[in-house]
Amino acid sequence: MDAIKNPFSPGAGSPPPELVGREGILEQARILLGRVKEKRPEKSILLTGLRGVGKTVLLNEIEKLAVKTSYRTVLLEAHEDKSLAAMLVPPLRKLLFELDRMAGAGDKAKRGLAVLKGFMNGVKVTMGDIEIGLDVDPEKGVADSGDLENDLPNLFMAVAEAAEERRTPVALLIDELQYFNSKELSALIMAMHKMQQRQLPMVLLGAGLPILPRLAGESKSYAERLFSFPDIGALSEPDANKALQDPTKAVGVEFEAAALKEIFRLTQGYPYFIQEWGYQSWNRAVGPPISLQVVQEATATVIHRLDENFFRVRFDRLTPGEKKFLRAMAGLAPKDRRSGEIAEVLKMKIQSLGPPRANLIQKGMIYSPAHGDMAFTVPLFDEFMLRAMPEL
Ligand SMILES: Nc1ncnc2c1ncn2[C@@H]1O[C@H](COP(=O)(O)OP(=O)(O)OP(=O)(O)O)[C@@H](O)[C@H]1O
Ligand SMILES: [Mg+2]
Repeated sequence: MDAIKNPFSPGAGSPPPELVGREGILEQARILLGRVKEKRPEKSILLTGLRGVGKTVLLNEIEKLAVKTSYRTVLLEAHEDKSLAAMLVPPLRKLLFELDRMAGAGDKAKRGLAVLKGFMNGVKVTMGDIEIGLDVDPEKGVADSGDLENDLPNLFMAVAEAAEERRTPVALLIDELQYFNSKELSALIMAMHKMQQRQLPMVLLGAGLPILPRLAGESKSYAERLFSFPDIGALSEPDANKALQDPTKAVGVEFEAAALKEIFRLTQGYPYFIQEWGYQSWNRAVGPPISLQVVQEATATVIHRLDENFFRVRFDRLTPGEKKFLRAMAGLAPKDRRSGEIAEVLKMKIQSLGPPRANLIQKGMIYSPAHGDMAFTVPLFDEFMLRAMPEL
């Protein structure tokens, strides 16, 4: 059928035609934003889940919700090789300028800029040629010690006080939170703790891999009282069917029941895979309805595309030792994916598995759902590993 009219949208962060099964989370976010705006305490939301479940899409949706609720928003994506301070400075500077330009009495936005300038000196962040504001002198002794855990809370206080003065709540939305190091995560949590204690109108909404609750808890034990960590998972079968049916029905095309069943079997309800199968099946079909046979024919193309893109980009970042670790893991049943068993398969000492294991966690490839157990962060990655490396 006409590929131009194809309603499906496989891709990182590509909004799906139908955001199904996430009503509860969006409602939770709506309540949180409403309450913070009215200076009522509420746990912030840090979405957690495997790769491709729809965390980024949800975070973007929550940003829209925030804008609708008259928030100013700062949306960031953490990277392995970029510091939190360097990422925050440019958008906070922009925010403070905006607050400064808004009508109202008081000069807290100007003061915020001075604190920000001090902060940059302290943590040694430069912004190339961009100046904070020629007429602003850095404020000394507030957020310029160079110790992020001291400076970030003070910087956030200055920013949030400026926001409060302009009666403008601020939502900080950060994707891929697990990439921050423990100092950064701890500073961020302490800063948000301050916001809540002082009832300032600044809220953090984040997303990350399932390792995030543990990382947050390890850096600050009170993190669990500050944040809720809703688990964004695969879709149930009725939701998966809806994600496929609703967008096509809207243009008069239906899936046969057996076709839907087969897609659910193959995707296990993982949103990214649903989009891929929907997309290829649509293109493959000559006309409606989309049949089981079309889905079966499309499957080879989908798997090829996933292998070449979704899985391959992750595979290519691994060292030979890490690949062997993952391959050994993939060959074991999920309940047996433990260091001892992996060491046995690789005929290695358990101690020598420490470094590749740590690196794989750092790269966001695996995590430990329960003590000693290991799991892939990418759904169906085990099947890919067996295809990519048939022999160990
Ligand atoms: N609720 C949903 N229903 C249907 N499709 C969805 C849903 N949520 C996300 N998708 C689709 O899933 C794909 C992945 O979404 P997204 O990039 O937000 O995932 P993610 O969890 O951020 O993944 P990653 O961890 O790799 O960043 C996109 O193609 C998106 O259109
Ligand atoms: Mg994402």
